[in-house]
Amino acid sequence: MTDRYCVFGHPIGHSKSPAIHAAFAAETGQQMEYVAIEAPLDDFAGAWRAFVSKGGRGANVTVPFKQDAWQLCDQLSDQARRAGAVNTLVLHEDGTTWGDTTDGVGLVADLRRNDVMLEAARILVLGAGGAVRGVLEPLLAEKPRQIKVVNRTAEKAIELAQDFAALGAIEGAGLDGIDGQYDLVINGTSASLAGDLPPLPDSLFADGGVAYDMMYGAEPTVFLAWAQRQGARGIDGLGMLVGQAAASFELWRGVRPAVDGVLDELRSQLQ
Ligand code: ATR
Repeated sequence: MTDRYCVFGHPIGHSKSPAIHAAFAAETGQQMEYVAIEAPLDDFAGAWRAFVSKGGRGANVTVPFKQDAWQLCDQLSDQARRAGAVNTLVLHEDGTTWGDTTDGVGLVADLRRNDVMLEAARILVLGAGGAVRGVLEPLLAEKPRQIKVVNRTAEKAIELAQDFAALGAIEGAGLDGIDGQYDLVINGTSASLAGDLPPLPDSLFADGGVAYDMMYGAEPTVFLAWAQRQGARGIDGLGMLVGQAAASFELWRGVRPAVDGVLDELRSQLQ
């Protein structure tokens, strides 16, 4: 039977993951199938079990199921345990389910691909929700000088920073805690979705500063448009999407696909 994989979400209609993984499979010569499945909101575990019974070997998990996926796993990577979320499920030979999160690896890979220096960098992260929690460990592993996490609801940023404090220099604060200049500012809030932008001070970016938005679209997000007006280099999250997919693919198939061709193709489709 052909090995089957899928992405679970709700809604899932516009997911780019099937096209990305089909391209990876063709490029690496892997025999596999990858589909999008809209799981019911009240029974994610049932949807995973049903998929496994039909030959499913692994899955990506997106909004709103990353925490449900975390809960059903028999084993978790250290990173997923700390993140409290899973975006990749792997079915082991013994029938147990293992979970990992590849969003942060995808983000760091995309930053490297764009020649963004992380070691000793001052990094500001906007937002303290699930999206941010999922990327902090790989970012801290790059040994930045400091990561400051700021959030509209200050307590969430402070609590989140405490959860990751053992891994490196990280501090949490409210939006009014933004001070000085940053080499890299990452927008991990969902404000862009609503065409919104948290209030940010001018002169936020150090010389050569970079703005990264985890969101993407045909047009620059509100955050990137603002950052570019401030003189920063702007990068959107399309490369992170492809990067997390490549890392999941490697967990399943043991081969790491190249991302550049797929990324160019997706970019041209956005126009
Ligand atoms: P996700 O899984 O995408 O991270 P989430 O856990 O709901 O979603 O978190 C959304 C994040 O975006 C939060 O940090 C939220 O701030 P609050 O914790 O104060 O709610 C942030 N956010 C959403 N809309 C925002 C806006 N208009 N301005 C500032 N921050 C916003």
